Amino acid sequence: MKIPKQLQPLLEDGLIDEVLYQLMSGKEATVYVVKSQGSICCAKAYKDVMKRSFKKAAQYQEGRKVKNSRRARAMEKGSSFGRKQLEDAWQNAEVDALFTLAKAGVRVPQPYGCYDGVLLMELITNEEGDVAPRLNDVEMSSEQALDDHAQMMHYVKLMLCAGIVHGDLSEFNVLVDDYGPVIIDLPQAVNAAANNNAFEMLQRDVRNITDYYAQFADELKQTLYAEEMWALFEAAKLSPETELTGYFEVDTREADVDTVLEEIKAAFAEEQARQERMREAGDE
Ligand SMILES: Nc1ncnc2c1ncn2[C@@H]1O[C@H](COP(=O)(O)OP(=O)(O)O)[C@@H](O)[C@H]1O
Ligand SMILES: [Mg+2]
Repeated sequence: MKIPKQLQPLLEDGLIDEVLYQLMSGKEATVYVVKSQGSICCAKAYKDVMKRSFKKAAQYQEGRKVKNSRRARAMEKGSSFGRKQLEDAWQNAEVDALFTLAKAGVRVPQPYGCYDGVLLMELITNEEGDVAPRLNDVEMSSEQALDDHAQMMHYVKLMLCAGIVHGDLSEFNVLVDDYGPVIIDLPQAVNAAANNNAFEMLQRDVRNITDYYAQFADELKQTLYAEEMWALFEAAKLSPETELTGYFEVDTREADVDTVLEEIKAAFAEEQARQERMREAGDE
């Protein structure tokens, strides 16, 4: 095929030998199947940062460390230098997350590196070499759904132990090969401890995945894995070995506003009475 402009520098540098075909073109990236050092792999070319929603990026960016302060200021200002830095931070976030998660035992494509806005990684295929389908194209028995859901909850837990919440996990960002689910698409991965939206994102990630598998195994609907994991995480009690149950006691006691107000009024009256007594004592 005609060499896409974005892949040209990688060809010139010998990082890619040949571009075989375009796999997908989405909102944020175009994905190609390429030959690199003699073997087939996947090249994800990120689209121009200008086409991306900045408001969304800012929400995910929160809590992400930028060591250089000039860089941090430029990113905040949104100057063109800043935009370039934000773009790099975004791309590096995906390759960083892939390395971290592969090491933590989560099944993700093996990353090879990110060069000029192109992420080179393992191409996930089935035994015959065909590109693995996305979870949303896969139907299964209830036993299989229960097994794979448990495996996914195990991965989400391992991610959280590594300090990462995916942030865009759904049946569209999970591939299924002969060994089970593989998690992809992590440029928006958030720092679990530093981002104020981390719990909401975790809940949404877990809800998306659970709803999908629940189509084949209804009983999954009642599970509360995100809440269970988060409570343990916050108490510094979550570890890769933690056995999750999906059960969580939700605190349904409503804050009793009337009682609180009564207590405030009583304290106020008491203080006034005390001051009154002080005044009277002073008058004597
Ligand atoms: N490593 C990979 N192996 C096989 N297919 C992939 C791989 N990475 C991405 N794809 C395919 O490309 C699509 C888009 O990639 P993704 O990382 O989800 O980017 P985005 O959704 O932001 O465009 C995926 O849905 C999947 O079909
Ligand atoms: Mg995607």
